Amino acid sequence: MKLSRRDLVWIVPSSVAATFFGWFGWRTVKIQFLKSGPNAQPQWKDGERVEIAELAELDEVWSFKYFEYPLTAGKLPCTVLRLPGPVPGGLTVEGRHYAAWSRICTHQGCTVDYVRNTEAGAILYNYRSDHPFFGCKCHFGAFDPVQAGKAVFGPPRFPLPRIRLVAELGVLYATGHETPLRPLESLRTVGGSRSG
Ligand code: FES
Repeated sequence: MKLSRRDLVWIVPSSVAATFFGWFGWRTVKIQFLKSGPNAQPQWKDGERVEIAELAELDEVWSFKYFEYPLTAGKLPCTVLRLPGPVPGGLTVEGRHYAAWSRICTHQGCTVDYVRNTEAGAILYNYRSDHPFFGCKCHFGAFDPVQAGKAVFGPPRFPLPRIRLVAELGVLYATGHETPLRPLESLRTVGGSRSG
């Protein structure tokens, strides 16, 4: 079939528009829906036992503390939170709920921030939530602590890896991390194990 110049006047813009809307639809699906949830039972890798906070420091729901967890390859930036309810992989002490996560974004490895002010978070991270979350400034990824660190917005697909907690005499300790420790274990060996 021979196309006339008049045919091309509508075929070319229509093709461009179809391509754009196809890409936009795929991107929307990817950002909103193609997320892997955290395992109900994290697979832990034993590590050093490190004091990270006194329970009294996390005196209210949504209080937090940043800390570093030692790995063979260096120090892993992490956050421990006090949560309104229990989450898989977290710790409950006398009715109070805690959990800790790596701060390395599972997309491309930027450091995530704990976003306690949700109004500011909606502006800064383009993600609106009715409770605090973890936000990544690099490509506006968001992770939900109430869903055990699940990626809920933006390009990250995988949840933030959890840090194992124990409590003793009013002190919280980190004693290991979830494996695979994404994205580090997909890039290089950490502590002798390797995983995609
Ligand atoms: S590195 Fe965090 S969203 Fe891309």
